[in-house]
Amino acid sequence: MVRDHRVKRIAVLTSGGDAPGMNAAIRAVVRCAIYHGLEVFGILRGYQGLLDNEFIELKPRSVSNIIQRGGTILKTSRSPEFQAVRGRQKAKANLERMRMDGLIVIGGDGTYRGAYELEKIWLGKIIGMPGTIDNDLYGTDFTIGYDTAVNTALQAIDKIRDTADAHERFFVVEVMGRHAGFIALDVSISGGAEEVLIPETKTNIKEIAQRLSLARRKGKTSSIIIVAEGDEEGGAYQVAERLKKLSGCEYRVVVLGHVQRGGSPTAADRILATELGAFAVDELIKGTSGVAVGKVGGKLRTVPFRETFGRKKAIDQFLLKLTSVLSI
Ligand code: F6P
Repeated sequence: MVRDHRVKRIAVLTSGGDAPGMNAAIRAVVRCAIYHGLEVFGILRGYQGLLDNEFIELKPRSVSNIIQRGGTILKTSRSPEFQAVRGRQKAKANLERMRMDGLIVIGGDGTYRGAYELEKIWLGKIIGMPGTIDNDLYGTDFTIGYDTAVNTALQAIDKIRDTADAHERFFVVEVMGRHAGFIALDVSISGGAEEVLIPETKTNIKEIAQRLSLARRKGKTSSIIIVAEGDEEGGAYQVAERLKKLSGCEYRVVVLGHVQRGGSPTAADRILATELGAFAVDELIKGTSGVAVGKVGGKLRTVPFRETFGRKKAIDQFLLKLTSVLSI
């Protein structure tokens, strides 16, 4: 008997940290897949839901009125069980039992690593979609959720600037990014910060303290220093403490935290999520597997999972240099 290898039944899940625009991505996947005659199922709670058999059938109306919502209607989680070989064998068995031919995973590099391992043992096709506020995925200029997170952080920083100016104070503001400084750099440029500390570059705290003291002598009465949570100097509290010791000046601390993960996605994130969702479905139907979709230089493209976590996306050195040029 000849087996029919066409993709007819697919599932979609969101995994890892949620990102604004994940719902727009789910909506695009569901409606494009149904438009092309496929059956679509959502898996709740990411890979954990795959292990726990949390499949729900999705119809066009299941994804009504979600394009503007943050979070993910499918819920998300980080699953230690799926990271073990046994867990993935169980995931494979559940996908077979549900007679799935394809799977779309929306998340960050942990999600892609999981998909890469699952693809080795399961005969179905797997495509990844970049959903993380960190923007730290190789193979796409921007990830879904990044633009919204930057704008959310920027709104907060603009408010902090008002009070910093009124009280003539100095602030250290921590933004998310355990391994990446993309949010930190973009909010520094757009928020007019004096200094930015990111994990991708070596931080010289003494030089920073000297520059801030010099700026004060030259008449600066307030400053904002942005720290990515993953900087090697530690978080905002540690940085403020060290700066105080080195300069004798007090620093107020604000940790923006999970507020950056929520909220209604920007137009840019909704559009990116929608076109990547449609593209992911097209690629699945063509029989593509083991890749993530992305947009580079305005063009949709695919990149093998292995490259997405094997290579590092570069920080914009020009923007980085501009932060110090503009803070004179
Ligand atoms: O990966 C997205 C992210 O928001 C990181 O910036 C942050 O370090 C991490 O998730 C926080 O994860 P959790 O919500 O599990 O604490």
